Amino acid sequence: MSFRAGPSVFKDRSKVSFDYIPEKLPHRDAQMQRLFSMFRPVGDSGLASNAFLYGSVGTGKTHTAKRFCEDFRLYANKQGRGFDHVHVNCRQKMGDDAVLLHILKHFDARFPDRGFSIPEKLDSLRKWLEKQQVHLAIILDEVDVLLKKSGSELVYTFSRFGEEAGKGNVSLILISQRRDSIDRLDAAAMSTFRRTNAVEFPKYSEEELADILKTRVGLAFHPGTVDDKIIALIADIASEYGDARYAIDLVESAGSAADAEVADEVGPEHVRIAKAGVTQSDLQERLAELDRNQRLVLLGIARKIRKKTYITTGDAEEAYHVVCEEFHEKRRAHTQFWKYLQDLDAMGLIDAKKSGEGVVGKTTMISLPGIPAKTLSDKLAEMVTKRSKGGTFG
Ligand SMILES: Nc1ncnc2c1ncn2[C@@H]1O[C@H](COP(=O)(O)OP(=O)(O)OP(=O)(O)O)[C@@H](O)[C@H]1O
Ligand SMILES: [Mg+2]
Repeated sequence: MSFRAGPSVFKDRSKVSFDYIPEKLPHRDAQMQRLFSMFRPVGDSGLASNAFLYGSVGTGKTHTAKRFCEDFRLYANKQGRGFDHVHVNCRQKMGDDAVLLHILKHFDARFPDRGFSIPEKLDSLRKWLEKQQVHLAIILDEVDVLLKKSGSELVYTFSRFGEEAGKGNVSLILISQRRDSIDRLDAAAMSTFRRTNAVEFPKYSEEELADILKTRVGLAFHPGTVDDKIIALIADIASEYGDARYAIDLVESAGSAADAEVADEVGPEHVRIAKAGVTQSDLQERLAELDRNQRLVLLGIARKIRKKTYITTGDAEEAYHVVCEEFHEKRRAHTQFWKYLQDLDAMGLIDAKKSGEGVVGKTTMISLPGIPAKTLSDKLAEMVTKRSKGGTFG
């Protein structure tokens, strides 16, 4: 068939997608500068440094850290030093072993998933850093998940990395939405991690959100398609949370709504449509991190729980089987299903609690924290369907 390529308000939609990292982050100069003063010794004299970034959802922690590392590499290179960074999402790579594996794959994409112990992996990392002559900044994002699951040993190991040689060759950037995550570090790790290295990311004000939107709209939309009044309206809506991701999602979605009507520009009604469809928070991003099996399990739960507060794991497993049938997916065994439940629980997507302590045959009850079941099941069904269309390997 021939496609009808109608006009679009977008000039480059990738500029409003969640993985686009802006060259410049308006209103984060102070945080960038703080990071620079902490990391300066890394570039000037090869000493390691640590930083802890905290602030609520969508305040730019992840993207500031990534942008900083990219920019700092140039500075370090000018001082004649190699600098590299790797970003680890601890919600996705849970546990010390998975984190290390992810870091090693940054250097060697074919590093085997199995067969190497943690000390062997650390040794490998050491060799890579020597071979490439780089100082490595490791960004441990959503670090509370790691600390909760595995304790602070790995953080401690990294903060002492390469010290035998007199100078450290690993620096850490820890990120969390909560300031008190840092308190999870044990005494040893805490002593290498000074409290003064905390950088706050406050919620954005309405004016700041408007600035951020303006810059982004300039990159992503055709001129004249998004009026300042529309930007102000979106900034106003998003300012309730101070969340830049929400603001950007809203403008993208409003753009889609305008395109769907083949409108010349984005109007207030498109923003309202967007608002009804976009969930505040990082939901989209978090779901994108799940693998197919985890999505199917969560989809089952989301459907089953619609009119209830809790469901049992038995209910959840049954619902999972129904979903597998619907999407022609081979269902995984019971033990594997449990593992998925634990993953989802650790990621905070579900809340699993033992009920009726002391009662014979006590069961685990599942609830959904915060996210409406309908929103969740719609999003997941869309993701799962898209992948099925991709064919066997899709
Ligand atoms: N100052 C800014 N200028 C431009 N874009 C920004 C700014 N701050 C955040 N953004 C954009 O908003 C989105 C969310 O930012 P980011 O992922 O860094 O937030 P976060 O603080 O890590 O949130 P979370 O706690 O949910 O992980 C990204 O698309 C990012 O590019
Ligand atoms: Mg983040």
